[in-house]
Amino acid sequence: MAAFFTLHSDLPREGPGEAADVAWAAKVANLSPTAQIADVACGPGGDIAALLQAAPKGHVSALDKTASFVTAARRDWREDDRVTLLQADMARIMNSYDMIWCAGAVYFMGVEQALRAWRKSLKPGGVVAFSEVCWFTDAPSERPKALWEAQYPGMTDAAGIAAQITAAGYETVETRILSDAAWEAYFRPIDARIAALRPGADADLTAVLDEAEEEAACWRAHRDEFGYLLSVVRPR
Ligand SMILES: C[S@@+](CC[C@H](N)C(=O)[O-])C[C@H]1O[C@@H](n2cnc3c(N)ncnc32)[C@H](O)[C@@H]1O
Repeated sequence: MAAFFTLHSDLPREGPGEAADVAWAAKVANLSPTAQIADVACGPGGDIAALLQAAPKGHVSALDKTASFVTAARRDWREDDRVTLLQADMARIMNSYDMIWCAGAVYFMGVEQALRAWRKSLKPGGVVAFSEVCWFTDAPSERPKALWEAQYPGMTDAAGIAAQITAAGYETVETRILSDAAWEAYFRPIDARIAALRPGADADLTAVLDEAEEEAACWRAHRDEFGYLLSVVRPR
């Protein structure tokens, strides 16, 4: 774990995403400027600025279970009373929201289980917007297949995500596939960090750097085969 955080501390974000995704979801959700938003599994808070831009007179309650990410996000947002940061478990979120935003983390709970758990935390008319990695093909190449079987054996495709949304008692308002720019917003800072950490890295750190390098290289070589689907959904 120490080696993981050597690579991952103080990065702008912990998964693919860009401000345009948040703006798109807010538009699809018809979000009010005063909206109450939860940023669930916020990591270092890479989406908070865009969420506030979508609801400049609203509030963002951002939470993550990892203390160092919460500390990093708090450092950036402590002066802004429109933001609350909590170290908390996304399975037990408090209060109610116009939008629950979850970028690249719903798989820790599973789509169906997360949507069921969050239903009670949605205000009337509220939505959940979440990005979930998925296959774009029925026949992935060996390299991405091996990578994702190790990282996320339950990974499905857009139809599989839609089925979980329906099973949770929700309907899909709209979906969009995350852009290459969203992926590079995650990978480019990691590329730079890997290059800086390589010289003198011990065995543990080298293993973490190799894994991160393979993840980026695999996406760059096979990005037509998998990606993130962003879904805006609401209870039926
Ligand atoms: C792939 S990262 C995405 C972070 C952030 N949304 C972003 O896009 O930068 C997944 C995040 O989920 C958090 N996480 C995992 N399980 C969690 C849980 N049960 N409750 C809260 N956060 C959790 C991790 O600490 C990590 O920050």
